[in-house]
Amino acid sequence: MNFVNFLIGVTSFCLLLLLTHSASLSGGDEVRAPAPQCPTDGSCQLPTCHCASTTPPGGLFGPNVPQIVYLTFDDAVTIVNHPFYASALFNRKNPNGASISATFFITHEYSNYSLVHDLYRKGHEIALHSITHTTTTQYWANMNESGGLTWECSRPTYTYRKPGLWPYTNDFRSIQDCQIAPCPDEAFPGFWTVPMLDFIGDDGFPCAMVDECTPVPKTQQDTFSLLLRNFNDLYTTNRAPMGVFTHSAWLIGPVDRPEFAERMAGYLQFLDHLGSLPDVYMVSVSQALEWVKNPTGVADIDTFQPWAPKPEATNNCVFPRNCRYDNSTWERFMSACVPCPLNYPWVYNNLGVN
Ligand SMILES: *[C@@H]1O[C@H](CO)[C@@H](O)[C@H](O)[C@H]1NC(C)=O
Ligand SMILES: *[C@@H]1O[C@H](CO)[C@@H](O)[C@H](O)[C@H]1NC(C)=O
Ligand SMILES: *[C@@H]1O[C@H](CO)[C@@H](O)[C@H](O)[C@H]1NC(C)=O
Ligand SMILES: [Zn+2]
Repeated sequence: MNFVNFLIGVTSFCLLLLLTHSASLSGGDEVRAPAPQCPTDGSCQLPTCHCASTTPPGGLFGPNVPQIVYLTFDDAVTIVNHPFYASALFNRKNPNGASISATFFITHEYSNYSLVHDLYRKGHEIALHSITHTTTTQYWANMNESGGLTWECSRPTYTYRKPGLWPYTNDFRSIQDCQIAPCPDEAFPGFWTVPMLDFIGDDGFPCAMVDECTPVPKTQQDTFSLLLRNFNDLYTTNRAPMGVFTHSAWLIGPVDRPEFAERMAGYLQFLDHLGSLPDVYMVSVSQALEWVKNPTGVADIDTFQPWAPKPEATNNCVFPRNCRYDNSTWERFMSACVPCPLNYPWVYNNLGVN
């Protein structure tokens, strides 16, 4: 699996604040000075540094900026939602002929790793939404630095939704509004923030995740128009990347409640619409960041390697193991691509060794 580009997603009931570098916020030993304002003298340069801004990178403008859309899904991948992911995502292509790529913010409990591997193999991004899915902000605020994270996607913005804020590095002070305090104000050179640009629901209220928007759409038409309206807010302005952040539970539900099938039809209609536009690319968050680091206009986009068509990866999970763990009060099943760990993997014992 792609364990290089980890990150934390956020849900309405799961305000995971990624503070992996924030010793001063967590009351750790290290107190760091606030980051200075972003310089205008050219000392913050791509690909390693990028100031928070609504201006497209690389001096690109207008219709030469490809409109990036990241489709993301939070939480466990299971036999319930994988068939939807396969049918909705596996056969779509971007205008350059490459398969689209979505980002899955995965939590450990109930995830089926045989199916996670399948998503990865089909070119989708496997990203981190924590092992425990702990929902108390304080738990995350007390965390110290962890290794290997290069970006996070957990910070909503209302102020910079239209025109939208582009992803930026934390070398310098962010201009972004802080909806969920505390937000880091120290410098974290080279570490990217991928802002969650708020949608506006039909009632006029903002929503960072589309499944939080109110009123919850109940027809295909209302779902499609919610997505389209928020897409056009960016497509017709500065073309900042649009995140369609959701859970499969917005689209999959009991058959006796037709609103789920309606929403799914509206969501798929929206993907069909995006697929009909010559300058819209549905790419993973990491692919989007590669583009921001190396901005390439629509006119030259076929030369942009990180978005180029790729052969499907080999199946390294031909014989998944079905592992079972239990005690007198608790039971979990885990499909693994490796021999069953002795113990159920968990935080501080993620390999499940004794
Ligand atoms: C971070 O926390 C973990 C778990 O509490 C601890 O084992 C580790 O030593 C800490 N690392 C630092 C750099 O403080
Ligand atoms: C059973 O396992 C769960 C998960 O590890 C744990 O929370 C619980 O305390 C255990 N119960 C008993 C009776 O050992
Ligand atoms: C995980 O998915 C595989 C299909 O690849 C299936 O055979 C297996 O039963 C699933 N395991 C669980 C625990 O649902
Ligand atoms: Zn979640």
